[in-house]
Amino acid sequence: MKFLATPYHINLLADKERLSVFREAIKEEVNGVVYDIGAGSGILSYFAVPHSDFIFALETDPKSAQCATQNLQEYGNVQVINADASNFHFPKKADVIICEMLDTALIDEEQVPVLNNVLKYLKEDGIVIPHAVINGAEPVFMNRSQITYQDVDDLKSVYYEPLGEMVIYNKVDFRKNIKEEVDIDLRFQIDLSLPRALMNGIKITTFTLLNDHIVCGPTPMLNPPLFIPVDEISLDEMKLNGNKSVIINIQYTMGGGLDTIKTRIKDIS
Ligand SMILES: C[S@@+](CC[C@H](N)C(=O)[O-])C[C@H]1O[C@@H](n2cnc3c(N)ncnc32)[C@H](O)[C@@H]1O
Repeated sequence: MKFLATPYHINLLADKERLSVFREAIKEEVNGVVYDIGAGSGILSYFAVPHSDFIFALETDPKSAQCATQNLQEYGNVQVINADASNFHFPKKADVIICEMLDTALIDEEQVPVLNNVLKYLKEDGIVIPHAVINGAEPVFMNRSQITYQDVDDLKSVYYEPLGEMVIYNKVDFRKNIKEEVDIDLRFQIDLSLPRALMNGIKITTFTLLNDHIVCGPTPMLNPPLFIPVDEISLDEMKLNGNKSVIINIQYTMGGGLDTIKTRIKDIS
């Protein structure tokens, strides 16, 4: 089927891995009344049509909502609504909420604030697709001094060297009301046997748990790794002082944008 879409949604439609994990989870989990929040071109509603009684597909961007309306016009069990989901009043409770407003660590997209409004319309035993995301952080040397995503088409676009193992620092479960502020101490063990003499960044990786057995790492259009600068730490000095670990405090607001990210070296020991 040929989908009408805006240029951004054409890129989303080209990301086959992203589409296939959502398609599989939708096939396995969807039934009854469904909300597709941030419907875009309507592709996830299209996957849900054969499994649903009725789908409310909400999209805030008028052009995208128009495309979704045309793409889904032949199906009697979908209504595309051009509205902002963060303050929308639904006429019926949902069995399933599909919400793909994901981005790395949920900082720059509205997934969390939107779900914090929409969850009150989910039935008690209802489910959210995806179920959750897990965030990990690695200490790195990188060739960037500003917050940067890895290029969507070239996952090697940022040069970096990992300096220690990934620390899984939180899990965001979309069935629960979520506190939007994050304030976490990341404790990294630094591998001082490596030739690199400087740590100057953190690499954030987000893993999406579509359901309890489908997990997806970064794809070109889903959660590309995010590189965040930190104040420089000399690894030569750490060696001299017999230090092995670094604690970096990271703060951000989910849905608040990249400008909310703050990092601070809390301890070197
Ligand atoms: C990452 S795209 C996903 C589109 C589509 N579901 C897909 O998987 O291809 C997120 C969509 O959410 C829409 N969106 C963002 N904030 C929204 C809000 N508050 N209410 C409704 N839609 C929103 C954006 O316009 C965008 O089309």
